[in-house]
Amino acid sequence: MCGIFGYIGFRKATPLLIEGLRQMEYRGYDSAGVCLSEKNGLKAVKAKGRVGELVKKAANQDLASTIGIAHTRWATHGAPSEKNAHPHLDCQGDIAVVHNGIIENYQALKKILEKEGHCFVSETDSEVISHLIEKFSEGASFEGAVLKTLKILQGTFGLAVVKAGEDKIIGARKGSPFILGLGDGEMFLASDASAILKYTKKVVYLDDGEMVTIGKDGFLTRKLNGEVSEKEVCELKWNAEQIEKGGFKHFMLKEIFEQPQAVANTLRGRLASDTVKLSVDIDAKAVNRIVIMACGTSFYSGLIGKQLIEKFCRVRVDVEYASEFRYRDPIVDKDDLAVVISQSGETADTLAALKEAKERGAKTLGIVNVVGSTIAREVDCGIYLHAGPEISVAATKAFTCQIAALALLTAFLQEQRTGRADPEFLRELAGLPEKIQDILDHPQEISKIAEVFRKTRNALYLGRGFNYPLALEGALKLKETSYIHAEGYPAAEMKHGPIALIDENMPAVFIATKDQTYEKILSNMQEIKARGGRILAIVNPRDKEASNLADWIIETPVVMECLSPMVNVVPLQLLAYYVADAKGIDVDKPRNLAKSVTVE
Ligand code: M6R
Repeated sequence: MCGIFGYIGFRKATPLLIEGLRQMEYRGYDSAGVCLSEKNGLKAVKAKGRVGELVKKAANQDLASTIGIAHTRWATHGAPSEKNAHPHLDCQGDIAVVHNGIIENYQALKKILEKEGHCFVSETDSEVISHLIEKFSEGASFEGAVLKTLKILQGTFGLAVVKAGEDKIIGARKGSPFILGLGDGEMFLASDASAILKYTKKVVYLDDGEMVTIGKDGFLTRKLNGEVSEKEVCELKWNAEQIEKGGFKHFMLKEIFEQPQAVANTLRGRLASDTVKLSVDIDAKAVNRIVIMACGTSFYSGLIGKQLIEKFCRVRVDVEYASEFRYRDPIVDKDDLAVVISQSGETADTLAALKEAKERGAKTLGIVNVVGSTIAREVDCGIYLHAGPEISVAATKAFTCQIAALALLTAFLQEQRTGRADPEFLRELAGLPEKIQDILDHPQEISKIAEVFRKTRNALYLGRGFNYPLALEGALKLKETSYIHAEGYPAAEMKHGPIALIDENMPAVFIATKDQTYEKILSNMQEIKARGGRILAIVNPRDKEASNLADWIIETPVVMECLSPMVNVVPLQLLAYYVADAKGIDVDKPRNLAKSVTVE
């Protein structure tokens, strides 16, 4: 996690560093800091809390330099505090480092360095980096000392270093995202393209195990063995407006409302009335089994993907938590297709699972939003979501677009295997952006229901079949944005335990749209009513039975059952948003979370 930013050029660096951190605050927000390379040496300013706190502290400082690095932190080693905030300096205060990732051998390194007389001020793993560079600086160039340091670090890093008296910044990456922005007489380093989009669209993606030295007019990349590497300059497709709130109170709300357009973008150019076009090089007939790996919301879209692919393609699909997959001895081989789903394309667990599947010979396919991200570059082939930047920590449009991409993959596989994709499925898929829009045209009723839900401390989300993963996703949205304990369950499992929790204080949210389990869901609702529970039901228009059993209803349009999660999720997202907002929570940056989890 954490966001790092670096600038070297002709402008005063501090405002750019602060702006860069603001754009990346979603990556971590428990402390922040900057370090400027001033004429008379390095000057670091750090603050506990949000970037706003750093701005207050930096206001009293005379920071004139045009070279600097900055960091916004999501704590792993050491509590959120000023002393643990980055940048971390060496003993002399001449070398400063910002780091994203985890240095796994830091304890052993710290012991050695302490024995040699280095004094540590923080509890972080990152501080060893500046002390190691200091140690290796004797008789070596700045680059030479950084290279030596990088070679002995175990774990993951995206990092940037400045040294007093050096008109350059050195950056490096291994397992953490890192991008270089090329301006005119200025250069940028960042964990995420969104932070540099305002200044340039020309970027270079650093590969794992690469180091870069940047000056204001150029850059030089090397591998860790010192060999110079050639880099391709790429053009960013996103624009600066996409990373603004555009009149919405929060990014989460904006991103919920963007869903019709985002889903249309995922489908654009890929869907025709009788066929699907994907540039994925898969021998669909040879695929024996599919294993989907992902985390969080992406895992839940994977559960829906499993049902879609099994229904239409009759191929066995297993869905695995990426974080669990690599820590056993998974059965994967060359006849398997490993599908990794990740909005950010940087989730460490998903990346590790992908590597594991690759090593075992599986063909790999990524369903990713962020173009050029690590996962997007590691997979054999992929489907980009084209959903535009998702800034809010809570995933919303990524989820619907992931299902859209999985539906495209389903139709593609079905066509390859059987010679024909189901035309009704393709037609329904094409009509989804409009159906999602129908729900977004009436958000007011949901905000009224949120007034009731904000007072609850627990909630149960229940669904069946294709809408069971939605119960999990609805519950996740509520807990992460509103800090209300919520559990998602297959509705029929309720009677095997969770029903004991039901009383008038524990509302149940049912996804009760008309599908093959509708009658069963009605019985499950009866069971809750019989125990004095209150029910919010997501129902289709003109539904009588489910509506009569519910205390509150939200209507969603009729959609083919297997695609219904794409519309039914929208009220669940809005409910979570309105409850969080009514509780006065910083919706886009809920406590303890970060947008992309780049540590294991
Ligand atoms: O970027 P990814 O899709 O790989 O991220 C996976 C999860 O970290 C993410 O979905 C997380 O659960 C969100 N906070 C959910 O809203």
